[in-house]
Amino acid sequence: MRYMKMKRVIGLFALLAVVVVAGFGYADNFPSQEEIASAEKTGQLLHNELFAALIQEFNETTPENVAEGKQAISLIFNNSNRDIRLIGIFPPLQGGFNNLPSDSFERRSMVRALQGQETTSVERVGDRWYYRRSAPLSNTFHQNCVLCHTNFTDQFFTQTHNDGQWVGALTMRVPIERD
Ligand code: HEC
Repeated sequence: MRYMKMKRVIGLFALLAVVVVAGFGYADNFPSQEEIASAEKTGQLLHNELFAALIQEFNETTPENVAEGKQAISLIFNNSNRDIRLIGIFPPLQGGFNNLPSDSFERRSMVRALQGQETTSVERVGDRWYYRRSAPLSNTFHQNCVLCHTNFTDQFFTQTHNDGQWVGALTMRVPIERD
């Protein structure tokens, strides 16, 4: 009787070990080229969608509806959504501390964004693989930026930032679907 119970416990542990090893093994495997290519395509579609939404909002912004426009943008970039983020370092940040770069990809992206460069990466976050992409944002991209970001002016930025005034980045991460 006792022996049977032991056997059952050992069996259970063995099963657990197989599940854990299989699970970690799966997550550890670097995604295939096809899996990455599919995530890149999703990333491009998402990038287009987000820019379309932002440009729509920027075009509609007037000195009279700044507060509502800010609220509308904040609802798209809800703090609890880590898949799409606007990040910056120049105070006052519209999204508060949440919009500071928050991990090594975002810190690297920020340094590069301030030089007008895009950043991409395939990396594991927690137990999932992601395709990550960050697009630099420039103040000269739209005349209405300054209506909401009163700091995005020639006076605020140093000489280096004045040509193009790179101010932050739009970052996205796409979970890589595994077979
Ligand atoms: C209608 C108001 C509005 C306009 C116009 C606008 N933004 Fe923003 N922006 C926001 C809000 C609100 C946030 C914070 C969103 C959040 O995370 O809640 C934000 C966040 C950002 C951030 C992240 C850093 C921060 O301040 O939080 C950057 C960088 C940024 N915007 C760049 C731009 C650029 C470049 C333009 C012009 C091309 C622009 N914005 C135009 C409202 C605006």
